[in-house]
Amino acid sequence: MKKILASLITLIAMLLIGCNDQKKSADLTKKQIIKPIVISTWNHGLAANDEAWKILVKGGDALDAVEQGVRTAEANPDVQTVGLGGFPDREGHVTLDACIMDHYNNCGSVAFLQHIKHPISVARKVMEETPHVMLVGEGALKFALTQGFQKENLLTEKSKQAYESWLEKSDYKPVINIENHDTISMLALDEEGNLSGACTTSGASWKMHGRVGDSPIIGAGLFLDNEVGAAAATGMGEAMMKTAGSAMVVELMRHGKSPYEACKEVVERIYKIYKGDPDLEWLQVGFIALNKQGEYGSYCLRPGFNYAVQTNTVKNKLINADFKIQ
Ligand code: GLY
Repeated sequence: MKKILASLITLIAMLLIGCNDQKKSADLTKKQIIKPIVISTWNHGLAANDEAWKILVKGGDALDAVEQGVRTAEANPDVQTVGLGGFPDREGHVTLDACIMDHYNNCGSVAFLQHIKHPISVARKVMEETPHVMLVGEGALKFALTQGFQKENLLTEKSKQAYESWLEKSDYKPVINIENHDTISMLALDEEGNLSGACTTSGASWKMHGRVGDSPIIGAGLFLDNEVGAAAATGMGEAMMKTAGSAMVVELMRHGKSPYEACKEVVERIYKIYKGDPDLEWLQVGFIALNKQGEYGSYCLRPGFNYAVQTNTVKNKLINADFKIQ
């Protein structure tokens, strides 16, 4: 009887110590989470992060932060790969793609949308006001107008001139790099520990009329799982669509990879697909990723891709992503 009692006491003591240790390690993990945090693609990510940070620093929602953040690039006519002033397709039309996703796996998306400066906000409306995830073309425009968005001409004089010069040769070789930015993708983790993401673009310059890239495709241009992390892409959308790129990055993080390692693995898969293909010569792809601990990372195919990071200790700085090939 005494022996049984002694064993019981030992067991209870061990359980209590174990619980305490678990609590300690949970506390430690909690302390180590970097939040809030926002990361976004390219130089135009700096202005976007500034806007997102105003919301995050006040304890606001990651969803509001990413929407407001990327709207800065959409409204800036000097960013010629997003929103107003975006380079047109080969028929001279500016057509926009965007998507947004929140921590409940809600998502909204628009593709091949014309005449609306802020496709990201239309995507949010699709998410919140319709039973659908994605609206395209005329239907997306019609919906946007019912939601109070204004129809406007998005082809600026500067982009029109660039289009006219392109028409002289009509040579389709999209070069995506720092000087010729692509999609803005943004990921944020808010004070509550919730993730959201947004992605918006005018797509590949001089694309075929009707072409839709990765940016409005949940899983390709953007994906997140609030238990794991978030990922988003930039670069030639076809490559991300062939690999479900952003969803893959998130899955790799679920299986223990760091954000950097997960981005690198997917870029390496893309490289393997395109190796020996003449398109590899001008192909650029890049991913950014953020996990639930607020750890972030990025990787791209070739040099030239950078991304902006803002946390309480990192004051909105640009980081050059590591790359696979020269
Ligand atoms: N990543 C933008 C696009 O390919 O459309």
